[in-house]
Amino acid sequence: MSTNLSSRMSTLRVSPTTALFAKVDEMRRKGEDIISLNVGEPDFPTPENVKEAGIRAIREDFTKYTTGNGIAPLREAIIEKLRRDNGVTYGMDEVAVMVGAKQALFAALCAVAGEGDEVIIPTPCYVSYPDMVRLAGGTPVMVPRNDDFSLNLEAIEDACNEHTKAVIICTPDNPTGKVYGEDELRTLAEIAVRKDIFIISDEIYEKIIFEGNRHFSVSSIEGMKDRTIVVNGFSKTYSMTGWRLGYVCGRRDVIANAVKVQSQTTTTPPSISQYAAVEALNGPQECVSYMASEFGKRKDYVQDRLSKIPGVICHEIQGAFYAFFDIRAFLGKEYEGYGVIEKDTDICEYLLEKHHVAVMPGSAYFAPGFLRISFASSMEVLKMAIDRIEIGLNAHKC
Ligand SMILES: Cc1ncc(COP(=O)(O)O)c(C=O)c1O
Repeated sequence: MSTNLSSRMSTLRVSPTTALFAKVDEMRRKGEDIISLNVGEPDFPTPENVKEAGIRAIREDFTKYTTGNGIAPLREAIIEKLRRDNGVTYGMDEVAVMVGAKQALFAALCAVAGEGDEVIIPTPCYVSYPDMVRLAGGTPVMVPRNDDFSLNLEAIEDACNEHTKAVIICTPDNPTGKVYGEDELRTLAEIAVRKDIFIISDEIYEKIIFEGNRHFSVSSIEGMKDRTIVVNGFSKTYSMTGWRLGYVCGRRDVIANAVKVQSQTTTTPPSISQYAAVEALNGPQECVSYMASEFGKRKDYVQDRLSKIPGVICHEIQGAFYAFFDIRAFLGKEYEGYGVIEKDTDICEYLLEKHHVAVMPGSAYFAPGFLRISFASSMEVLKMAIDRIEIGLNAHKC
């Protein structure tokens, strides 16, 4: 039989998070007690008023295709949110609702970058960015960040050439928990203007931000609205991962291109979710501050525990719900039944198989030698999980 599959697909990875999810599922089905800290979704239920709005939408038969860029009341609610939170005013054709922030990112990339184009990605980065760039036909250019995970602005500028179309940033950041400062973002904006490139700003963790830090959207800098493509969504802020809804905002022609991608793939975002999302944005916001404060307590616990493990380096977690910590001190050590462990991926395998805790390897985010845990689990679960990690890491032979 012919093996003439798409050559573009051969350059894509299965999302490492999805792959690990499948392995954990298989082990659990065999009856193993696995604690899973690998998945990036809030453990809170979707707020009641939002669920009710979804149920109402079904009862009232809003169960059909919608306009390709999303229903007008939702785009209006998004515009109001952006005005309120970012101080930026968008028109109705400068915003499009998408099937999750993930589709919004992919559509934005297709809108601005194709064959022969390059997109700069500061690393560590969200697992999907490079593969999305490739799927759009472009080439990802990975630029390591500084040791404290701030942007290496000089390196970003040096990486720009006549093929560069955009740089993707995420703030607050998955996987590092970094929140970029206003000064840093202003300098990045100056580079974008000098090099005539877009900034794709993934702001999905905007509301999960910890004391002493402030979210700043690069789109709010004077003259940057048209050069910034803001991606945001409902998955994290309103605990709506399964409703599959996000949005993209930017220059009219960029959004028109992104909507073309949607119209030729998923047609529209889900109708029921869109009505629920109107309620999420326009309804009471206490659920958002409640979740952020709960994440804050867990962050304090996780950061404190990890920092106390000799050999682990855990930077300050400023936002999102991940700890990204350096475990290079444990590489090159011998663990019973595993020989000398040289890579973060092998440490993950060892922790999963021997200590029954699932964590993500830094190499999935283009930062080998690190581990990422999500603290979107209860305190009891986090306590047990970190006990297992600590015991596991320390079980090497001297
Ligand atoms: C940085 C980042 N961007 C985008 C997404 C995708 O979010 P959505 O569920 O809205 O597609 C995620 C999900 O984990 C994420 O971590």
